[in-house]
Amino acid sequence: MGKDVIIACDFSSAEQVFDFLDKFTGKKPFVKIGMELFYAEGPSIVREIKKRGHKIFLDLKLHDIPNTVKKSMSVLSRLDVDLCNLHASGTKRMMEAALQGLTREDGTRPLLIAVTQLTSTDQESMENDLLIKEPIDKVVMHYAHNAKEAGLDGVVCSPLEAGKVHDLCGKDFITVTPGVRFADGDIGDQKRVMTPQAAKEIGSDYIVVGRPITAAEDPVAAYERCLADFVD
Ligand code: C5P
Repeated sequence: MGKDVIIACDFSSAEQVFDFLDKFTGKKPFVKIGMELFYAEGPSIVREIKKRGHKIFLDLKLHDIPNTVKKSMSVLSRLDVDLCNLHASGTKRMMEAALQGLTREDGTRPLLIAVTQLTSTDQESMENDLLIKEPIDKVVMHYAHNAKEAGLDGVVCSPLEAGKVHDLCGKDFITVTPGVRFADGDIGDQKRVMTPQAAKEIGSDYIVVGRPITAAEDPVAAYERCLADFVD
């Protein structure tokens, strides 16, 4: 899989997401389906979007005991998505179990990536709420390394961390980075943001872009601007 722009389809109904996707008459964008849309519409929304020819990142961030995650991943693998994820904090054993569950009888499977620390977690909340006293960038790198050792394909991380993750885990270890904004756009609730060009320079493999595209006056033009800045 090469570099691409993934649109975060954070909508709460099938109607809204199809209204949005109907605007794209040229290249079919790679889309991210998160908890909001999945919980609203169920697995059928994944099948329908797939049928329309889109690649899909199913962003459900699994985190449970290894056996439960294994069985859940086995069910998700039948949806034929391209990319899915879990929390690295569920431990290496959970990540290994997830990979086993995800792998189909013929040996094929979707790519599996790990969330290290959510970008909404900062040093203070990690220390006070989770009792993790190490510096957050060390924790992120440790979790990325665990994901690599468990056999996963990559991580979700801030674009600011993508270069370091590649240095530690290799250039083929995929970095998927949200928190992308145009230089002349609103940053909204994201704290640490980067432009598509900067994310490209630092070596992100995929950028996840939500509101700069979904809330744009012309979403197709905004998507094409991302592609031009990040991929071309
Ligand atoms: O609208 P925006 O571009 O901020 O959307 C970013 C998307 O990436 C959202 O779906 C958000 O949930 C997701 N995400 C994130 N930060 C993470 C993990 C996922 O912003 N660390």
